[in-house]
Amino acid sequence: IKRITTHILQEMKMRGEKISMLTAYDFSMAGIIDSAGIDIILVGDSASNVMAGHETTLPITLDQMIYHATSVVRGVKRAFVVVDIPFGSYQGNSSEALRSAIRIMKESGAHAVKVEGGAEIRESVVRILSAGVPVMGHLGLTPQSIYKFGTYTVRAKEEAEAKKLLDDAKLLEECGCFAIVLEKIPAALAKQVAETVQIPVIGIGAGPYVDGQVLVVHDMLGINQEFKPRFLRQYANLQSIMTEAVQGYIKDVKSKSFPSEKESY
Ligand code: KIV
Ligand code: NA
Repeated sequence: IKRITTHILQEMKMRGEKISMLTAYDFSMAGIIDSAGIDIILVGDSASNVMAGHETTLPITLDQMIYHATSVVRGVKRAFVVVDIPFGSYQGNSSEALRSAIRIMKESGAHAVKVEGGAEIRESVVRILSAGVPVMGHLGLTPQSIYKFGTYTVRAKEEAEAKKLLDDAKLLEECGCFAIVLEKIPAALAKQVAETVQIPVIGIGAGPYVDGQVLVVHDMLGINQEFKPRFLRQYANLQSIMTEAVQGYIKDVKSKSFPSEKESY
């Protein structure tokens, strides 16, 4: 199998082939998604919500992200694996940013890191890139800044914030980022960004006029039924499938129909 690279992702943008991206946090899920043919797997800090049950992405640690990333990398043969650098491990200190990125790359075997923000984290982005580590940007609704925003509503609806977002996207491209995620912004602005920068722009709640799409795998599989924003398309209802399976098992145990003679030694 030919591995996906930043070069291949760039070519996909050039020829208009949309890039598919999903999150994964463990070996088994990563293996399924990779075998299905996904282009990019993101070990997102959404693991903080989906795996650990926290309300925000802020509590997850660098060590915990490396544990998830290491597990994912072991399950992947083809996809390009990107890992979120967690809150507090890169902002405002480019030396720490570089150290965090190097730890992720060295200990997990992942292929790139992702960081949230534009001009504010420029130094960190440049420093990581100078070490030869590919960096994916993330603009718009950046969940590590949730307490600054106060809500999870659509970002950059106003002129000033939209202009800053476009400037930040250009800056990230100039720095040398290989791609940018745009989260929960108007489709028209996302289109403008994707047409302005040459690098792939991957959207989540950013409309169709971008170079690819990303979703949290637990959301699109319907494992987590509580989170249903407008941008989420649910491709399965694994929660009900799993509940029925577990209830079937409980019933069989209680009724002594499991295990049968054939299932015994
Ligand atoms: O952590 C995450 O899952 C993400 C995606 C939503 C882009 O950053
Ligand atoms: Na994230």
